[in-house]
Parts: sequence; C-alpha cells; structure tokens
Amino acid sequence: MVVGRVVRTGSQVRDAFLMPHSVAVPPDGSRRYLYAMNRLSVLWRSVAITLLCRVRGMRGAYVILEGQFPVLHTRGTIRVRKIALRSRTVRVEIGADEGAVLEIGDGTFINQGAVIVASSRITIGANCRVGDQVAIYDSDFHAIDESTPTRTAPVTIGFNVWLGRGATVLPGVCIGDHAVVAAGAVVTKDVVSRTLVAGNPAKRVRELSASSDWRRV
Ligand SMILES: CC(C)(COP(=O)(O)OP(=O)(O)OC[C@H]1O[C@@H](n2cnc3c(N)ncnc32)[C@H](O)[C@@H]1OP(=O)(O)O)[C@@H](O)C(=O)NCCC(=O)NCCS
Repeated sequence: MVVGRVVRTGSQVRDAFLMPHSVAVPPDGSRRYLYAMNRLSVLWRSVAITLLCRVRGMRGAYVILEGQFPVLHTRGTIRVRKIALRSRTVRVEIGADEGAVLEIGDGTFINQGAVIVASSRITIGANCRVGDQVAIYDSDFHAIDESTPTRTAPVTIGFNVWLGRGATVLPGVCIGDHAVVAAGAVVTKDVVSRTLVAGNPAKRVRELSASSDWRRV
C-alpha cells in the first residue's frame, strides 16, 4: 500500500501547509480522505498556534504544527519566524524563562517530546532538525553540592545541525554548523562544525562532508 512518498518541491504554497522540509505525495483511494483530514488538521493548528505565539509576544512568528499544542514558556524573549513543530504523541516544551532568550532560525524542525526552555540563552540556527525527546539545557537547575553554584551557561547550535532522538545538550555547549549528534548522545563539550558525535559523553565519530549552503532534509 502506498501511503505517501516524501519528495522535495519548490512550491512555496504547498510547503506552507505541510512540514517545511518535505511534502507527502497524496496516496491513492480510500487513504485520500485521511490524508486530506491530516492536512486540514495541520492547517488549522498552524493558524491557531501562530496566532497564539504572536499574542504571547513572538512577533513575526509563523509556526507549522502537526499534533498537540506545545507547552509554551513566554516570560522571557523568544525570537522565531518560520519553524515547524511535530507533537503527535508527546507535547513539545519550548520557551524562555524571565530574563532569558530563546532564538530559533528559519526552517528548523522540532519533533515530539523535545524540551527547549531557556534559563539564560539558547540559540538554534536555521534549518536544524531536532529529534524526538531531545533536551537542550542552558542550566543544570540544581546545585551539585553546597560549595558549587548551579551552572547556567548559554547554548549555541549552528546552521543545519541534526540532533538525533533523545540527545541531551548541556549548558555552555556550542555545536558547529552541519554537525550531527547521534541518538541518545549526551553533549558535554563543544562540537566542531561538520562532525558526527555519539555516546555519553559524546565523542567525535568522524568528519562530515557538507558545503556551506547544503541543507539536510
Ligand atoms: C547519527 C547516525 C545517523 C550515524 O549513523 P552512521 O553514520 O551510519 O554511523 P555508524 O553506524 O557507521 O557508526 C559509526 C560509529 O558510531 C557509533 N554509533 C552510531 N550511532 C551511535 C549512537 N546513537 N550512540 C552511540 N554510538 C553510536 C557506532 O557504534 C560506530 O562505532 P564504531 O566505529 O566503534 O563501531 C546514527 O547513529 C543515529 O543516531 N541515528 C538515529 C537518528 C535519529 O534519531 N532519527 C530519528 C529522529 S530525527
């Protein structure tokens, strides 16, 4: 049974109603109805979340949403324009606490269960792929012991970075452009551009080839 093939398209209009990085070719026969309903659901949810984001201070936001509405923390500053969220089974938690800044570049996709709430500053570049259950922390939230203050340090993630399922990025980390963090990795140190890292703690696996303007789909 053909459920849908993922292809690239140049059509801005179709992209606007689907996930920004791909479009699914409509299936044949009876599944057309389900396909249409799903597209309709994405459309109204996207309109609703975009309005909600704008009402809550995210000027110029344009959010595509598939699935449940995210848990939004909007006491801080959030700078987003065009991003896509998918949360069919688990909600995405996203935002910035008071005095903190969250910045996400255009075309970045965030999958279900991801937690990205800035305590100081989290910057995510354009066209990133954030896998399900990913956590990006710029604060440890708790002190380790009496003599150690709670660590809080900005996190910066570059352009076209892919964070695999369940990856955790810890405070102070900087991940370079085009890098890939394998599923389940715990990133404790900076990741050089065009590098694949894996494991806990994340270690370099190999270099990656990517020209400056290449975009991962
Ligand atoms: C990142 C990824 C695509 C890399 O795959 P790859 O390039 O084919 O890597 P390989 O399978 O050749 O593995 C290279 C090495 O890294 C290790 N490795 C790969 N993935 C790993 C992981 N998630 N955790 C720990 N080690 C890992 C391999 O064991 C291997 O080690 P070795 O050289 O000592 O044998 C893959 O590891 C991954 O994490 N996929 C999951 C992506 C995902 O989460 N998708 C869904 C959400 S977006």
